Amino acid sequence: MRALVTGGAGYIGSISVETLIAAGHDVVVLDDLSTGHRSAIPPGAGLIEGSYADIERVARLLTDERIDAILHCGARSLVGESIADPARYYRANIVGGVALLDAARQAGVQRFVFSSSAAVYGTPEVAPIAESAPLRPINPYGETKRTFESALAWYGSAYGLRSVSLRYFNAAGASADNGEDHDPETHLIPNVLRAAEGTAEVAIFGDDYPTADGTCVRDYIHVEDLAAAHLLALEATAGDRPAGDRPAAAEAGNRPAVPEAGDLPGWGSDRRRNALVCNLGSGTGFSVRQVIDAAAGVVGHAIPTRIGPRRAGDPPVLIASAGRAESLLGWQARHGSLEEMIGSAWEWRRRHPHGYPG
Ligand code: UFG
Repeated sequence: MRALVTGGAGYIGSISVETLIAAGHDVVVLDDLSTGHRSAIPPGAGLIEGSYADIERVARLLTDERIDAILHCGARSLVGESIADPARYYRANIVGGVALLDAARQAGVQRFVFSSSAAVYGTPEVAPIAESAPLRPINPYGETKRTFESALAWYGSAYGLRSVSLRYFNAAGASADNGEDHDPETHLIPNVLRAAEGTAEVAIFGDDYPTADGTCVRDYIHVEDLAAAHLLALEATAGDRPAGDRPAAAEAGNRPAVPEAGDLPGWGSDRRRNALVCNLGSGTGFSVRQVIDAAAGVVGHAIPTRIGPRRAGDPPVLIASAGRAESLLGWQARHGSLEEMIGSAWEWRRRHPHGYPG
């Protein structure tokens, strides 16, 4: 398969590119490098610098590069920024995303995997949360992800686009080569590790939530497990291919190999069902305090903390029901322990104390 990966210079995108290349696929990265890093792009992937919103250019690129499938990781992805500047989110995630879909239509690319988010659920009433739960996003970021998922379903019904939307819970950890380097950094684990380096204390955003220790509970999932799910999802969109033409999933160590397309509720003769949606989480939750304690164990010393106010828009508990990705994509989280996730992030930071060079 030849895949175009938008946002392939970003955290989850670059590690997904690594996994695709390791499975024998050809990858072209399309990234404007506004938040990604040139040096995060794995060797073996070509880079086209630019925006996925440029329909004519992207349609030409898809044709010239003979792209079979698109993995759309490119997006604006900060909840707080989305509340302060929703226009930016609608422009990048909706206007730009629809332009990419139209370029795919022009070029006849029918396979699409989308980086979605648990943010589509808003503040769920239950845990674990299934894909069938109500979608009630509480910020423009989550709203744009929900809207784009919905566009995929309608494009599937009208134009036969086969898509998988992957709703990430909390991505964590690093591969040997790539890790998390955001500016600004808002995520818990990198902030805890920065505090472990002695440069600042980490703020705990609220300790009066209705949870066992009063801090928020999240479902952390290793970024390499997310990457493996992207590979499986992309391969699963090859509904018109014989099963024997999909060897990489089994080689990647996931069980079982991707099911036959007919086993998927996503596509087949009923074109209204061409859009599959899967949570990607471990099904287990850890509190902010548990993450800090696990990180202290990894780094070998206590980490300075302070209790701060709640952060607006944080649901108390977010835990995935992960069964659908397991049963339909043959995916399984393999790097489940918090120590393993934090350990890989710590290792990456030690090798890249200043983050990416560019
Ligand atoms: N937290 C702190 N201190 C920090 C950073 C985070 O206490 O310095 C807390 C947060 O309040 C939250 C938990 O740690 O309770 C995890 O926060 P992250 O920012 O790491 O992750 P979120 O759960 O807020 O965000 C994730 C994804 C978003 C997605 C959101 C859905 O990163 O893309 O889940 O709610 F939108």
